[in-house]
Amino acid sequence: MTQDKLKKAVGWAALKYVKFNSIIGVGTGSTVAHFIDALGTIKYHIKGAVSSSDISTAKLKNLGIPVFDCNTVDMLDVYVDSADEINKQKQMIKGGGAALTREKIIAAIANKFICIIDESKQVSILGKFPFPVEVIPMARSAVARELVRLGGLPEYRQNVITDNGNEILDVHYLQIVDAIALENTINCIAGVVSVGLFANRGADLVLVATTNGVMVIE
Ligand code: 5RP
Repeated sequence: MTQDKLKKAVGWAALKYVKFNSIIGVGTGSTVAHFIDALGTIKYHIKGAVSSSDISTAKLKNLGIPVFDCNTVDMLDVYVDSADEINKQKQMIKGGGAALTREKIIAAIANKFICIIDESKQVSILGKFPFPVEVIPMARSAVARELVRLGGLPEYRQNVITDNGNEILDVHYLQIVDAIALENTINCIAGVVSVGLFANRGADLVLVATTNGVMVIE
């Protein structure tokens, strides 16, 4: 089975966790694009969505799903999003699609983070996938120097401006032994908007698409 077929299977499997008449937190990326397609089929049974990126917002609106401003929503029952890597503790690297900051905000107001992945995203130690750091443009070099001090190799993501008008540094070769400590340390660097380590707030439920079907990890 192709990776996209696995992404589609898990995107549609997530529909089961959407409650009637609720507002759903929606992530970003090619796996979530399948979830949005699935959501379109039940659009009259939900109130709408809070979206983590302009690209997901456009897709939701195209399907006729109302998109709410995050400021108008107190809490969400579920947030459905994918990840670039996930470990056994359900800690993740996210932000391959540069939407990490809005993804973190929505994850923070959701009761349940449902992570939908194909099996290639499961790892024992996070860090093979270079984790992104969103930075205020004027702080890019200063933040990069601090990341080098921490032992990483930051690479400027060329020609990418986030939906928030910022830039991305992708950090290579950092051994992530304690993801919570590293997330906290990077969050404290002046000029960092957010880091694509989702360790303090990991996933609650993981749906994994395998060639034998979709597995649920609670
Ligand atoms: C976007 C993300 C995505 O969830 C992550 O990059 C996985 O994407 P895909 O579903 O395309 O493999 O964090 O910022």
